[in-house]
Amino acid sequence: MALLEIKEIAARDAGAIDELVSRAFQYQSPHHFLEDFPIWGTDRALRLGIYEQSQLVSHVGIRFCEMQTSRGLERIALMGAVATHEQHRGKGLSTTLLREAIQRVEARSCPWSILWGSEHEFYGRLGFKLEGTQARALISDLAINTAGLQSSPVKVGLTDSIFQDFLRRKTGIQFTEADRSWFFSHPTVEWHYLDEPFSYVAYQRGMDLKHMVHEMGGDLRGIQKILYHIYLQCPIAQVMGQTDDLIKLGFPMKAIFEENLCLARPTFAGEKWKPEYWISGLSAC
Ligand SMILES: CC(C)(COP(=O)(O)OP(=O)(O)OC[C@H]1O[C@@H](n2cnc3c(N)ncnc32)[C@H](O)[C@@H]1OP(=O)(O)O)[C@@H](O)C(=O)NCCC(=O)NCCS
Repeated sequence: MALLEIKEIAARDAGAIDELVSRAFQYQSPHHFLEDFPIWGTDRALRLGIYEQSQLVSHVGIRFCEMQTSRGLERIALMGAVATHEQHRGKGLSTTLLREAIQRVEARSCPWSILWGSEHEFYGRLGFKLEGTQARALISDLAINTAGLQSSPVKVGLTDSIFQDFLRRKTGIQFTEADRSWFFSHPTVEWHYLDEPFSYVAYQRGMDLKHMVHEMGGDLRGIQKILYHIYLQCPIAQVMGQTDDLIKLGFPMKAIFEENLCLARPTFAGEKWKPEYWISGLSAC
């Protein structure tokens, strides 16, 4: 096979990635990939592509970030927007780009590469395996006292107070001021919140997180109120999070379904995935 040239793609050229990945994941116009995953069109991510003449035919994105752990911040590389144009599949393009991405992770001595995908065998050949635990439950199974839950109206929208709460988070991927722009650029995420007691949830994100609450913060009773409000609009709505957090919210263990969190590849031999490692919905890509 001829040596493939890998190019770094500038954020201003991310339109070609949007077109390629939207097609690969069968987005139906007017919906498109970057409205669900705006991170891949920003300077917070690195984009690697292979072109055939001037057409982008394969892409892999990498987001270098840090995860909050009990030992402090640990570096981590999130990979995503992995796609090859259908006429160029099976030629090793994605494998080549993923190998390059892994080399860059190794060059930075970043201990983990993480991604999401159902092609476990394909990613397994590159050293990725299923890791971590994520819990899901139907809001209808929430065992709470609903008296008074409809008293204060739930507001809709993303506020600066919510973003500030993300900046203070003690678990998961760390957000900084530099993430503000893409954080606020998710047209397909519905934010619901209460000012008093301060509480919020993020609901849905395009194709991936339909009917799913994937971010929660603030006062527990406030979150219950918001969840109840969402349940009244959509009885099949679910909540996704860490098992302990779902139990604290009032879900009985028998209502909680656990599954793997992600596909992870350790950079260093012997590196073990720790149960506390957590990546919530908005960071998953
Ligand atoms: C998955 C995908 C990125 C692979 O790209 P590619 O450039 O064809 O990959 P490569 O040529 O390096 O490797 C192809 C291998 O992946 C496997 N593969 C491709 N699609 C697969 C799928 N849906 N399920 C399982 N394996 C798959 C092929 O069997 C092939 O294995 P082989 O080499 O043993 O025949 C491409 O098929 C694609 O864009 N799919 C749609 C988008 C997607 O699913 N992205 C990944 C999820 S994040």
